[in-house]
Amino acid sequence: MATVLKLLPPWRFVRFSRATQVTSVLSVQLHTTGAMTATVEEFNQAKVKLGTLRSDPGNEVKLKIYALFKQATQGPCNTPKPGMLDFVNKAKWDAWKSLGSVSQEEARKQYVELISSLVAAEAPADVGAQPTGSAATFQTLQVTTEDNITTIRLDRPQKKNAITVEMYNELIEALELAGKDDSVITVITGNGDYYCSGNDLNNFTKIPEGGIEKMAKDAGELLRRYVKAYIDFPKPLIAVVNGPAVGVSVTLLGLFDVVYATEKATFHTPFSQLGQSPEGCSSYTFPKMMGAAKASEMLLFNKKLTATQAREQGLVTEVFPDTSFQSEVWARLKAYAKLPRNSLALSKQLIRGMERERLHTVNDQEVERLVERWLSDECMQAIMSFFQAKAKL
Ligand code: COA
Repeated sequence: MATVLKLLPPWRFVRFSRATQVTSVLSVQLHTTGAMTATVEEFNQAKVKLGTLRSDPGNEVKLKIYALFKQATQGPCNTPKPGMLDFVNKAKWDAWKSLGSVSQEEARKQYVELISSLVAAEAPADVGAQPTGSAATFQTLQVTTEDNITTIRLDRPQKKNAITVEMYNELIEALELAGKDDSVITVITGNGDYYCSGNDLNNFTKIPEGGIEKMAKDAGELLRRYVKAYIDFPKPLIAVVNGPAVGVSVTLLGLFDVVYATEKATFHTPFSQLGQSPEGCSSYTFPKMMGAAKASEMLLFNKKLTATQAREQGLVTEVFPDTSFQSEVWARLKAYAKLPRNSLALSKQLIRGMERERLHTVNDQEVERLVERWLSDECMQAIMSFFQAKAKL
C-alpha cells in the first residue's frame, strides 16, 4: 500500500468536474476487451506516468488505480477486511476486492490503459501551456497565438508558399496543436504575395530507394493525413486568402468554415493540366457548393476564378479591397474570437458531424486515384514540362 501511495503525485487541489470527466473516459477505457496485453515494462512506465499527472483525478479513480495496482502485483485480495471505522483502508480493500479473480495480466493491462487515458485527458492543457509554433518548432510556418486566435502562416514566400513534404508534416502538427490549444478560432494565411501555389512539384522529383511506387504511396499517405487534419479540425477554421491560391490550397477551402479573400486573390486547380485529379474532398464539396457544371469547369477544365467569381460560387465567403484587406479582416476575426469558445467549437462539430464519415470516404477515394495518377505518363510529362519551362527562362 505504501508503494502505491508513494506513486501518487502530490495533487494540490481537486476539481470535481474534472474528476467526473475523467471517470467517464475511464469507463470506456476499462471495458476495452481487445487482445492487447501490457508488458511489465509498459506497466512500469505507467507507474512513472502516474507521477506526472497535474490534477487529482478524484477518489473513485484513485481507488481504481490502487485496486488495479494491487491486483496486478499481488493477485486477488486475500487480506483481512479492515474495521468499519477504518474508512480509508476499508474503501481501498473494497476496491481491490471488487476485482475478484481478474488475472494479474488483465489487471496490468487495465492499469496501463487507465493511466494512459488520464495522461491523454490532460494533454490539451499541456499543449496550451507551450508557446505555440515557436521558431524552434517549425521551419516552414510561422505560428502565433494572440487575442484568442491561433494563426498559421505559410512561410515560403520566395517559393509562393508551395507545400513541401516538410511543410505538409508541419501543417498537420500545427493543426493538431491549434485544435487543442486555448484559442477560440484558427486562421491559415500566407506570407508574401501568394496565399499558396499548391503542392511543391519538387516533391515528385525526389525518388526514394523504394522507387517511384514507394514515392507515390508515401505521398498518398501524407495527403490522406493532411486532409484528415482539416476534416477533423475541432474548432472554427478560417482562411485568410492574401493572394493567388493554386491546387490543394484551393480544394481544401471547402473544408474551412469561413474564407475571406483579397480582391487580388485568384483560385486555380490545374489538375488535368498536370495529369492529376482533385483532392481535398473537392470532388464532393465543390459540386455541392457550386453545382456540378461550375465545379467541372474548375476541377476538369482548370478554369481560374477571380475572387469575385469564387464568392459568387460559394467558395469564398467575402471579398475585401486589397488596401483594407488585412485591417478589415483582422478586426472582424478579433471580434469573432471573443465569442464563447465551447459554443463555437461544439456548433462547428455539429455541422461537421453531419458529414464527417462521408468526407473521410471521399478523402480515401481521392487519394487512391491520385496515387495511380502520380505514376501515370501523363503526370510525369506534365511535371517535366513545368521544370523544363523554368530551366529555359
Ligand atoms: N512547386 C515548385 N516550385 C514552385 C511552385 C510549386 N508549386 N510554385 C512556385 N514555385 C517556385 C518556382 O519554381 C520559382 O522557383 P525559382 O525562384 O527557384 O525559379 C519560385 O517558386 C517563384 O515562382 P515563379 O514561377 O518564378 O513565379 P511566377 O509568379 O512567375 O508564377 C506560379 C507563380 C505559382 C503561377 C508558378 O510558379 C506555377 O505555375 N507554379 C506551379 C503551380 C502548380 O502547378 N501547383 C500544383 C497544383 S496541383
